[in-house]
Order: sequence, then structure tokens, then C-alpha cells
Amino acid sequence: MINSSKNDRVRTNPHAVQGCDASVYLKGANSEQGMPPNANSLQPRALQLVEDIRAKVHAACGPTVSCTDISALATRAAVVLSGGPTYPVPLGQLDSLAPAPESLVNQLPGPGTSSVRQLINLFGSRGMGDAADLVALSGGHTVGRSQCAFVRPVDDTFSQKMAANCSVNPSTKQDLDVVTPITFDNGYYVALTRRQGVFTSDMALIKDTTTAPIVRQFAQDKAAFFTQFVKSIVKLSKVPRSGGNKGEIRRNCFKTNSGARLIDVVEAAAGVVEGIRSIGTMASRRMGIVLALSTVAALLSPAVSARFISLPTDHLPITTPPLADGLVFDLYSDSCPQLETIVRSAVQSALQQEIALAAGLLRIFFHDCFPQGCDASLLLTGANSEQQLPPNLTLQPRALQLIEDIRAQVHAACGPTVSCADITALATRDAAVASGGLPYDVPLGRLDSFAPAPSDAVFQLPQPTSDVSTLLSAFQTRNLDNVDLVALSGGHSIGRAQCSSFSNRFREDDDFARRLAANCSNDGSRLQELDVTTPDVFDNKYYSNLVAGQGVFTSDQGLTGDWRTSWVVNGFAGNHWWFYGQFGSSMVKLGQLQGPSGNVGEIRRNSCFVPNSQTILAAAGNDGFAASA
Ligand code: HEM
Repeated sequence: MINSSKNDRVRTNPHAVQGCDASVYLKGANSEQGMPPNANSLQPRALQLVEDIRAKVHAACGPTVSCTDISALATRAAVVLSGGPTYPVPLGQLDSLAPAPESLVNQLPGPGTSSVRQLINLFGSRGMGDAADLVALSGGHTVGRSQCAFVRPVDDTFSQKMAANCSVNPSTKQDLDVVTPITFDNGYYVALTRRQGVFTSDMALIKDTTTAPIVRQFAQDKAAFFTQFVKSIVKLSKVPRSGGNKGEIRRNCFKTNSGARLIDVVEAAAGVVEGIRSIGTMASRRMGIVLALSTVAALLSPAVSARFISLPTDHLPITTPPLADGLVFDLYSDSCPQLETIVRSAVQSALQQEIALAAGLLRIFFHDCFPQGCDASLLLTGANSEQQLPPNLTLQPRALQLIEDIRAQVHAACGPTVSCADITALATRDAAVASGGLPYDVPLGRLDSFAPAPSDAVFQLPQPTSDVSTLLSAFQTRNLDNVDLVALSGGHSIGRAQCSSFSNRFREDDDFARRLAANCSNDGSRLQELDVTTPDVFDNKYYSNLVAGQGVFTSDQGLTGDWRTSWVVNGFAGNHWWFYGQFGSSMVKLGQLQGPSGNVGEIRRNSCFVPNSQTILAAAGNDGFAASA
């Protein structure tokens, strides 16, 4: 339900055939919804969602915001919530007074279109004749599903597979991006390079010599896709409407204000900006827009609604880290296709019982990766285990056990194909998402170590008493920069610390330090929430707390007092979109750290807590890894 709503929001916008004017929402006689390109294929719940949002916005602000604007904002929110980039949305578009004529609706490109030239001409007739626009906007198929009736005719193994699924059950829906069906990323292009496009029109993009290089570039470089997608969708939103910006602000997205009868046309003053001015005060419009976004978020996922406190601003540059040797995104697409679903549902159901496990998983991941790479060495129990060393004495035992439980489920379904290190990385991502974070893709292929990391590596984990220079140099040694340090410290947006961990703060002379001391009341084993505003929601409040002087650790609060990190703290406090995007990118970097010998090891078969051969562990002692695989 959640994903299908998001997907259809991505679709309703390009389906505005005479410019964006919400004509597709009108019901009744001659409705566009009944015309062939749309009939039975636009999701009723997604159309209803926009109407629900309109009702809330109008209840709060009066009829100041059009269905067209709400639809455009909802589309962007859906793209972002699915993992895609944010982009500016020009506002002030009025709603049409009637559906578009059938002749125009029939011009929508059909899934059976095989000629790229034809597609470019179609896009060109809307001022979008650049091949890069066509390829980038086709990236809308990175999420969403299609009815069997539209999938391409059988002419290769993949189309045979689709046809076989459809013949078993014709009401089956086919994922349009078979690599990462519910994430807005470049998986659609990766699938095309493997000749796994669902529509003839998709396959045309990889067969045509003009568009194929662009498809390949996007398949290799998600950032390049996002950059072009933002450019193309902004261009699309500026395409002038055939009859100008004429219409009304509907009081119900499904019908014109006068019902079936055409009413007086409201002439908006020329241009979008003037259009905006003509329909209400800036304050009420802004509030309406914020409400529209928060309603989309609330309806899509209650856990993340809290993040919509302000409008996204510019698209901030977030770099996608390069992949480390041996790691790829789709490693298990054949050997364990159900992997991500198993991990996600196990994490979700564990967190429903005990939300605090999310913080436990996040901290375990950091403590495994930082000393010498993400190799599940931290999970090993027994002699010389990392868990016995002081930095790890307060890891959550139930979170460690959860990783082992998930391993058992994954191996029961797929055999011993997936390492404990990969399961930890996936479970950590899913815990952050279940707590309110945004999803990011996790590169996979890590091997599990044969032995614990040496104790001196474990003691390199940062201390809560550390100053910024010490933290920066510890992170820089691992190729993590100042922005990564601030973003990853955002892990403290959830979770708790024992009072004994930060008793040095009690000596500081400020109100918050005194409050911390009072809460702890001389009991070192008491727990203190690390984000004092929203302790179990993964959001950017941790940063606004820091700005307000309410960081629990010296290492947290120090980030506001050093020029190398303070600007990032302020940026994240003011723009949660930047924080969410950067956190994902920094976690991918952290998650690709490897030990001095590289990605060597095994897939632990019997348990994450023991290596396959106990003798290796005994022989390795405390000196680090044994021989490579
Ligand atoms: C930047 C340097 C960091 C320092 C000095 C630091 C230090 C600490 C300390 C002392 C605790 C409390 C332990 C206890 O008393 O039980 C803690 C908890 C926690 N840390 Fe960090 N940490 C750092 C970075 C990170 C990073 C990068 C992450 C993850 C991305 C992270 C995630 C967590 C979480 C989620 C908790 C709460 C655990 C729970 O509730 O079980 N920390 N950290």
C-alpha cells in the first residue's frame, strides 16, 4: 500500500497531457481516467490521497492551494521518500475547468512504442526533445508496477519469465525496476543494461544508439541520473500549458467548482509567480504547502511524518561513494532474491516489540566497522572477543542476537550464501528507516572475519570525551571526512547512554550539564537519552539540540564549537533533507571499510558468533586475522 501510493504519485504528474492542471483527477463524463492510456491503470487510492491532502490543506488555510500544486508537491515528496533527489517545484498552477480532449490523451506514449525517435518527437512536442530528458524521465519506472497486459512480447529469457508469471496469474503485477523495485535509484537502468526492461518502450532506450550510452552512464552513476532527473523534471514543470495558466482552485480535486458546467475562467496574472500572488497570502500558502507535505508523509508512513517541519530548499550536492573492491548492489539477486525482504520484515517485527533495538543495531554496525572494517568480527564470542573490551561492554545483547536470528532465517531460505557482515549492514539500514530515516542502497559482498580484531584496533573507537581534532583525525584515517563525522554522529539521534559514559560533562557549568547531572543522580548505570527531544525517532533534532547546547557527550557538543564541523551541524539542523541524504551516503562509506588485508574471510555457516573452523579462532589469538580465504 505504501509503496504503490508512492509509485503512482510519481506517475500522475507526467500523465498531465495538456500541461499540469489536475485535469486527470476529474471524474464523470469524458473523464481522462476512463480514456485508454489511463483506464483501470491509475491507482484509485493514489488519486484519493491527493484529494485527502487537498481537504486537509483547505481545512487549515481555506481554498488557497490548487490540486495541481498539491499533486506536484506530493509527487516530489513521493520521489524523495522513495530515495530520490529533491527539486524545486514552481507553484501557482490553477486547476483545469474540464478534462483534456481524448485526442490529446491518446498522445501519451504507449508501453509498446519501440521507436526512440517517436518517443523523442513526442517529448519534443512538449519542449522536452533532448534524449537525456527522455532517458531521465523514463527513470520514473525505477518504482512502480505494471499490469501483465502491458509487458512486452516474448523474445528473450526475461520476457519468457514475465510471460510465465503472467500466465499463472494474469492479475500479477510486474515490477518495473526488477533490480530495486521500491527504491528511487538507478536500478531501472542497471536492469536495462541486462536487457531486463519490462516495456518495449523501456527496451528501446538500450537498443537505440542515441539513448544507450545515457542509459549505461545512469546505470553506473546514480548521481548522474539524479542530476539529470532534477534538470528534466524542473524543465517539465516549466513547459507552458497549452491554454495558458487558466482555471480555478478546485474545492474538490475530482470535480470543477461548478460541477459539470463550465464557469467563469479565472485568469491568473501572467506567469507562475503572479499566479501565486493572486491566490492568497504567502503565510497561508506556505502553511498549506508544509501541510501538504506532512500529510503525504503521514499517509505514506507514520514513522516518518515528524520529519516534515520545513520545506526542502535547494538540491544539496551529496556524493555517492564509489564501490569498494568486491562489493556490488545486486550480489544476491539470483542466489537469494528474498534477502532484503527477510531482513526488513525481521527488523520491523523486532522493533515493534522493542524500539530500542534500532539504536543497538546502529551502534553494533559502527563498532564492527570502525576498528578494521565491516567483517562481523565484533559478533564473535569466546576467547579474545571484541565484546569483552571496554568500548563494547554496553552493546545490546538482544540486538546482537537479532542479527544471528536473521542469519538463521536467511540461511534457512537461501542456504549459507550471505555473510553476517552483510546481514548486519542491511539490518542497520532497515533499523534507521523503521525509526524514521530514509532508505539508501547497501553495497553487498562482505566476508566474515575468521577472528576478532586486535584489541589496539578496538581501542581506536572514539571516546565520548574526545575533542573535534581527535575525532577528525580518527575518522580521516578511515577516509571519512568532517561531513561524514557530523552525519554519522547523527546516529545519536536515537539510543541511550549509561550515565557513567559522560560524567565528565557534570563538571561543566551550564544549565544542560546540571540537568544531566540531576537526571543521573550519582547512579552511573542510569540511562540517558542521547537525543533529548525525539529519543526514538531518527531525525535531525539531534542537531537542533546541539545548536541549543543540549548535546550529551563532549564529543557531540564539541561539533558546534569548531569551524570545521559547526557549519555542517547548522546545515543539518536547518535542512533534514540534507541530513537524511548525507547520512545514507556516509553510512555507505562506513560500511565499505575493510581491514588491512582487504575483504578476506568466509560466510559463517553455523552462527554469526563462531567462525566455521573453531581452530582458526584459537590459533589467531589476539593478533588479528588468521590466513585469508
Ligand atoms: C563520533 C564519535 C562517537 C562517540 C564518541 C560515540 C560514543 C558513544 C557512547 C559513549 C555511547 C554510550 C554507550 C553507553 O553508555 O552505553 C554511544 C551510544 C550510541 N552510539 Fe555512539 N559514538 C560515536 C559515534 C557513533 C556513530 C558513528 C554511530 C552510528 C552511526 C553511533 C551510534 C550510537 C548509538 C545508536 C548509541 C546508543 C546505543 C544504545 O542505545 O544501545 N555512535 N556512543
